[in-house]
Amino acid sequence: MHLPPIGLGTMGIDDPGAVETSLDVGYRHLDTARIYDNERVVGAGLAASDVPREDVTVATKLWVDDLAPDRVRPATEESLDRLGLDRLDLLYVHRPRGPYDPSATLPALDALVDDGLVSNVGLSNFTVDQAARARDHLDAPVAAHQVERHPLFARNDLLADARANDYPLVAYSPLAGGRVGELPEVRAVANEHDVAPESVAIAWLVGTDGVVTVPKASSRAHLESNFAAGDIDLDADDRARIASIDREQELFPE
Ligand SMILES: NC(=O)c1ccc[n+]([C@@H]2O[C@H](COP(=O)([O-])OP(=O)(O)OC[C@H]3O[C@@H](n4cnc5c(N)ncnc54)[C@H](OP(=O)(O)O)[C@@H]3O)[C@@H](O)[C@H]2O)c1
Repeated sequence: MHLPPIGLGTMGIDDPGAVETSLDVGYRHLDTARIYDNERVVGAGLAASDVPREDVTVATKLWVDDLAPDRVRPATEESLDRLGLDRLDLLYVHRPRGPYDPSATLPALDALVDDGLVSNVGLSNFTVDQAARARDHLDAPVAAHQVERHPLFARNDLLADARANDYPLVAYSPLAGGRVGELPEVRAVANEHDVAPESVAIAWLVGTDGVVTVPKASSRAHLESNFAAGDIDLDADDRARIASIDREQELFPE
């Protein structure tokens, strides 16, 4: 699967215009979820854009109450309907909780791949052990693991696991929900490069082997500067400064 390194995180986006603008700016990876209650918004933005649907990687997620095996297909069909699509490029298990049972839930996702409703299966918020069990039960290769990762929180065991098993780690909340601009270390690196602190956080993530990310932004200005952050090269000193930040501030604990 081609997962473009800087996708659009859409949690909180309720205007199709923001999605359409992101595609105009160059984004080709849209990240939504049933629980964000905006799949119709994402679908409308994609439909309104001149960018052909097949050029865009569209990802959504099955929420925990849709993980019983008999809910997997209807829930996916409902997401497809809201998105206005007949196929998802990537369907994640949002969190391995509630009725999630790897031996029952994951074969139901494999069936969606077999039937062409879904091209790839991803995991989100799994531990290393849970990811290993998932790989045991899935016929489809795991295509991505989406986890929280930003200058205030990073789990390197999950990155090592993703690398070892050859799928990208998708860093969510890359801007720490908008807080990276407050961090002196990130601000110092940003000043040296004459870019926004948010750009530094994105450059730090996508400059790490095996990491892609999905910053959320609403305005054209934020969408453009975040997308352009992929071109910023941080040197070892810059990365060391970001590495020195205490990384224990998880925004979305289990
Ligand atoms: N799998 C999961 O469990 C999970 C959990 C959380 C999030 N996610 C995914 O990750 C995506 C991103 O995470 P997030 O929504 O928590 O937050 P985020 O991307 O870390 O931060 C978004 C915030 O930063 C602001 N922002 C964006 N670009 C900026 C810029 N250049 N300068 C200043 N401020 C800027 C946004 O404001 P504006 O909107 O005003 O631009 C918004 O308030 C989500 O949308 C979702 O797709 C997944």
